[in-house]
Amino acid sequence: MDKEITLNNGIKMPTLGFGVFQIPDFDECKRAVLEALKNGYRLIDTAAAYSNERAVGAAIKESGLDRKDIFVTTKLWVQDAGYENTKKAINASLSRLGLDYIDLYLIHQPLGDIYGSWRAMEDAYKAGKLKALGVANFENDRLQDLMMHNEIKPVVDQIELHPFYAQPERVQWLLDNDIVPEAWGPFAEGKKGIFTDPTIKEIADKYDKTNGQVILRWLNQRNIVVIPKSVHEARIIENSEIFDFGLTDEEMKKMRILDNGVSLFGNMHDPATVKQLGGARFSY
Ligand SMILES: NC(=O)c1ccc[n+]([C@@H]2O[C@H](COP(=O)([O-])OP(=O)(O)OC[C@H]3O[C@@H](n4cnc5c(N)ncnc54)[C@H](OP(=O)(O)O)[C@@H]3O)[C@@H](O)[C@H]2O)c1
Repeated sequence: MDKEITLNNGIKMPTLGFGVFQIPDFDECKRAVLEALKNGYRLIDTAAAYSNERAVGAAIKESGLDRKDIFVTTKLWVQDAGYENTKKAINASLSRLGLDYIDLYLIHQPLGDIYGSWRAMEDAYKAGKLKALGVANFENDRLQDLMMHNEIKPVVDQIELHPFYAQPERVQWLLDNDIVPEAWGPFAEGKKGIFTDPTIKEIADKYDKTNGQVILRWLNQRNIVVIPKSVHEARIIENSEIFDFGLTDEEMKKMRILDNGVSLFGNMHDPATVKQLGGARFSY
């Protein structure tokens, strides 16, 4: 994939972004986003539930970049599901970000009154407050249902994707339906020794790259948007240098042996997970 992709509604989205999950501290988040913007990232992925939309907004303002050159994603948390609550949540996110539109707005979890939420999102889209609508953590069957019973089609599904959980069929269905797969946790948040894994390292050494760069490139070559997170500038830069090399078909195949076919972050089909996530409340 090139550095930009055109979504199914005609809007352009960078294929490499910067994620800010687990950076709750205002100053740290603002600094990291400023470093990302300074080093060429043009997509910032936040969420109401990350409690750092204000810091993201402050960094965007301080960066001096044109608003139109930055692609901002934020997400609706479960506690704001439903038509009226979502209307308020969109306005609250806009206000915390200090923006008058959001490039991509996602339903964060397939939980609660998502149909009411989607209708509020469609209204905000028509009003120009949201430039594209999408979801996160939706299984393909839920997405199919959402598409069939609403007017506006999602542009993106942001899901867990990394070498240990590659989800080839799920990704293929999204691509076949013109919905962009976006990887969260591309490094599996560092689990299972991913940054030193020997299978990845062998490929990395050939190109004088790191495991992280090979993982992001492997996702990019599968037509998946990536949003790695780091609070270290050297790593922020490292994670952006993925457009100057390419994996061969053989190497793409080799990466497949790492796939265990199991999520490392919980099973959404387990009622206990649904109860825990659906009941989680955040102050934004
Ligand atoms: N929709 C959802 O439900 C959902 C869920 C999770 C995440 N997300 C989004 O996806 C983004 C990325 O996922 P994530 O933050 O969970 O995890 P991740 O990007 O897979 O991993 C981040 C971890 O890797 C470390 N790291 C980053 N680059 C590195 C490098 N080059 N070398 C060594 N270590 C490195 C970071 O440490 P340092 O920061 O210390 O460098 C951090 O501990 C999030 O920030 C968020 O925007 C969405």
